[in-house]
Amino acid sequence: MKYPHFSLFCFLLLACFQITASSAQEKEIENKIENVLSKMTLKEKIGQMNQINGRNPTDNLYQQIRSGEVGSMLNIGSPELANQLQKIAKKESRLGIPLVIARDVIHGFKTMFPIPLGQAASFNPEIVEIGARIAAKEASEKGIRWTFAPMMDISRDARWGRIAESFGEDTYLSGVMSMAMVKGFQGTDLSNPSSIAACAKHFIAYGATEGGRDYNSTNVTQRQLRNIYLPPFEKSIREANCATVMTSFNANDGIPASGNEFLLRNVLRKEWGFDGVVVSDWGAIKEMVQMGFCEDNKEAAMKGVNAGVDIEMTSGTYLQNIEALLAEGKIQMKTIDDAVRNILRLKFKLGLFDNPYTNLTSKSSIYSQEHLDAAKQAAEESFVLLKNKNNILPLNNKVKTVAIIGPMADAPHDQMGTWTFDGEKVMTQTPLQALKKKYGKDVNFIYEQGLAFSRDTIKSNFSKAIEAAKQADVVLVFVGEEAILSGEAHCLADINLKGAQSELIEELSKTGKPLVTLVMAGRPLTIAKEVESSDAVLYLWHPGTMGGPAVADILFGKAVPSGKLPVTFPKYVGQIPVYYNHDRVGRPADKTETLLNNIPLEAKQSSLGTSSYYLDAGFDNLFDFGYGLSYSTFEYKNLVLSSDSLSQSDVLTVTVDLKNTGNFQATEVVQFYTADLSGSTARPIKELKDFKRINLKPGESKKVEFKLPIAKLAFWDINNNKVVEPGKFTLMVGGNSYELLQKGFTILQ
Ligand code: BGC
Repeated sequence: MKYPHFSLFCFLLLACFQITASSAQEKEIENKIENVLSKMTLKEKIGQMNQINGRNPTDNLYQQIRSGEVGSMLNIGSPELANQLQKIAKKESRLGIPLVIARDVIHGFKTMFPIPLGQAASFNPEIVEIGARIAAKEASEKGIRWTFAPMMDISRDARWGRIAESFGEDTYLSGVMSMAMVKGFQGTDLSNPSSIAACAKHFIAYGATEGGRDYNSTNVTQRQLRNIYLPPFEKSIREANCATVMTSFNANDGIPASGNEFLLRNVLRKEWGFDGVVVSDWGAIKEMVQMGFCEDNKEAAMKGVNAGVDIEMTSGTYLQNIEALLAEGKIQMKTIDDAVRNILRLKFKLGLFDNPYTNLTSKSSIYSQEHLDAAKQAAEESFVLLKNKNNILPLNNKVKTVAIIGPMADAPHDQMGTWTFDGEKVMTQTPLQALKKKYGKDVNFIYEQGLAFSRDTIKSNFSKAIEAAKQADVVLVFVGEEAILSGEAHCLADINLKGAQSELIEELSKTGKPLVTLVMAGRPLTIAKEVESSDAVLYLWHPGTMGGPAVADILFGKAVPSGKLPVTFPKYVGQIPVYYNHDRVGRPADKTETLLNNIPLEAKQSSLGTSSYYLDAGFDNLFDFGYGLSYSTFEYKNLVLSSDSLSQSDVLTVTVDLKNTGNFQATEVVQFYTADLSGSTARPIKELKDFKRINLKPGESKKVEFKLPIAKLAFWDINNNKVVEPGKFTLMVGGNSYELLQKGFTILQ
């Protein structure tokens, strides 16, 4: 470069200009907030804190908006209605404060992307961001400017239905994916009419719900909150300016999230500097009464307001009680003013004061080719190849007849998954449709459902399915879960395949034909037996609108699987909770011990060994975190660290040689873990710290580099301070969480 200093100067000047411009903008917004606030009556302030369900609007609702008793709404059915309500707020209420219209846009609006757990399996934050941007564009066309997503609850329990809505069990992966989703929803400028405010939810530890039963209690320690559950929230707020946060339904260690002053005020506001909106979950303020944390609705309102919940979703206790609580001195005017400031700030940032209406005449982007292509790419990248005996996949041109069997092969509603209020099954492209359309010219597809739906137990059509299998060169059996079996409130104590699906697989395997099992589900299922009976297994999650074309191209090798598991698959439900980054124990499973079937009769109490394992489930999981096959193979060599002793301010550079040793151009997710070998508390056996997707041609090699700032090794220590503790560490790199190259390094005092 000819004038490097000049370029640097220009860059700094531009950066300074941007910072000054954005702080000037922020200042202007703050002035506007104070101006509006100074004109508001107490009733109008309380109205801003009240969020209403607009599913069935009545005349009373219009009147409430007119008199300033409503600040935001969710579930408004159409953009026309949204505009009508905004018009009342803007033109007929005293101060003309606009509403914010919210909706659960979780993994797509009309163009459905894979469920978030599937998106996490892509290990590709870029496609997650693109998906959220598309969802924002489509939703904002319909008047929605606030989504209640992403859900960033760490989920280590497949019984919990909402695991589908999560990014899985890992804190780092969830943080990266949550941040990507927030960026996609909010865009670079929240006031752009195609941007929607994101909501980091559920604050906090909701995924740790007892027994995987939704809405239950959690008992996560302060340190675990800090080390495991809070980081995705902190990252989304600090690094992506997530505009809002939702409190969760659960009480953690006895304190309901909506009444947890310490977390909402000290951690969220003071430590992280959050100046956005905190909204309760649906009815969660009122439910504090049911929990026995409050005597009545009035006390619930008091505790919610004082803890720092700015908006109450749907249960109306604020509206009914704040005035009296203020008069009694149980809450302070400043608390109300601060909450209203946060709400007005959101509305100003969204540009709603200037432009509250949705343009009903502009060209729609819904289901555009660009959106469908991105949804297909996301689906392809979300699939995880769990088994591929004798490289049966991809199907080659010797395959002339294929039997397509199973209840999920042509289930346009169910393949969209949970939280698809706006998805339309008529627009869904199923595997059956796509296989026929894309490959039907060269391949004869015979379709026999076998079972009508995933819970179906009627086996009378098995014989037709078996007959079809017998005629085929390869059998594809699509099994899994209907959409309704996962998601909110849809928890299961048994996570085996439902209905007679397992028997169907068994019968098909008896034909001796090559059997490919494809699973569409909202959670990891316990499918050890079915994996054993199949030649290949491809996990599809619920893949969304474009799941079919994505499956078709993966099966025929037009695309190569690259997904990795964002969550551990247990063999038995009784192994739950099970996750790769558990703390070290004094007696780890030594894997030589006696298993159930080998126990001699009347064996002595201590003769079997004394390590941490199950007699019946054995030592291993079905599949571990980070696992996933490709049609190609990869070799890892030459792990090199820039130094093996470092100080706290250093950055460690790590390189590894990755080679594509197979026959397909393919993408490998290179995973980078560390382990802190001793600390002031017991430490996890390993923790994911970074990952990269690397695409290589057959035979191609690449030096993959990671930079690890030592500060990234900090954790919340025995005194609940965030520190990097000096000592010995191991660094590991590989294609899953257990087959890893490793080297040690030391952090000096
Ligand atoms: C869920 C939230 C959701 C809200 C609004 C609640 O039942 O827990 O995640 O955003 O409903 O629909």
